[in-house]
Amino acid sequence: MARADDTALFASTDASAAPKPGATGRPLREFPTPPPLSGHGPARIVSLCNQKGGVGKTTTTISLAAALAEYGRRVLVIDFDPQGALSAGLGIGTHEGLTIYDLLLNPKRPASEAIQETRIPGLDIIPANIDLSAAEVHLVNEVAREQILSRVLRQVTGDYDVVLIDCQPSLGLLTVNALTASHGVLIPLECEFFALRGVALLIETIEKVRDRLNPAIELDGILATMFDSRTLHSREVLERVVEAFGDDVLETVIGRTVKFPDASVAGTPITSFAPEHPAAKAYRQLARELVARGAVA
Ligand SMILES: Nc1ncnc2c1ncn2[C@@H]1O[C@H](COP(=O)(O)OP(=O)(O)OP(=O)(O)O)[C@@H](O)[C@H]1O
Ligand SMILES: [Mg+2]
Repeated sequence: MARADDTALFASTDASAAPKPGATGRPLREFPTPPPLSGHGPARIVSLCNQKGGVGKTTTTISLAAALAEYGRRVLVIDFDPQGALSAGLGIGTHEGLTIYDLLLNPKRPASEAIQETRIPGLDIIPANIDLSAAEVHLVNEVAREQILSRVLRQVTGDYDVVLIDCQPSLGLLTVNALTASHGVLIPLECEFFALRGVALLIETIEKVRDRLNPAIELDGILATMFDSRTLHSREVLERVVEAFGDDVLETVIGRTVKFPDASVAGTPITSFAPEHPAAKAYRQLARELVARGAVA
């Protein structure tokens, strides 16, 4: 019974997968197809960050990375969450081979040894597993403990156009490492009532990192996710987000659809799992918007 209800609920939410054009209340521009690149690298590094759990950080990392790879970009994604959801979502096992944890703990180890290819051409990953949960304890007494990931990534950015870091839902030392290593931050926000709670603290953390560790870091944008255009609630939340953050809110809005959990189970990005689904198209649009904004090459 419960299962039938769930299915009905999911089926009905799918209708809203495509937000209406201009869902953020601004005229919707068409973003051009990114021109081909003549060479690759050095990469711009972007962290996907929000200490609130379940807002779409991992889903966005996977789907955006795959969309950028479709546009001919060389993309490296870093699983920076001990839950390993990014690795799982790309069908990567994490019990053999090196993980990001091994690189953080042994800075002399070449970072390239931990890179694995995914099934998506042009998209590589440095995976993570539960070992990473011990990293904060190990790193806390290191010299320049906030810059360890930055040093690791420096070795490999030359080979990629974009590096995306999927942060865990916390503002601890790992996330500070991600922000310190990054040129930009993308903040996914779920369109629900408590979406804005905690964003002030997140922005404050980004500002502290900018003041003390990484003066160049930029807010690349706030991405509204899990938007349901049929509910007044979703529309009101989006309106408040635009009121609060103005042009920092990306024009692309990701609708709510059960296709995402389905794609995760299949270990495949939505862009290949359901290439014509409005949600796959939305992530391609996000890729185009970020290129148009100069956030990625
Ligand atoms: N647009 C969407 N519509 C419906 N479900 C979604 C959407 N985006 C993500 N989900 C689902 O919501 C759940 C949380 O998403 P995701 O794992 O991407 O969030 P997260 O911010 O990375 O979470 P965590 O903070 O735990 O790392 C997952 O089950 C995912 O499949
Ligand atoms: Mg996640």
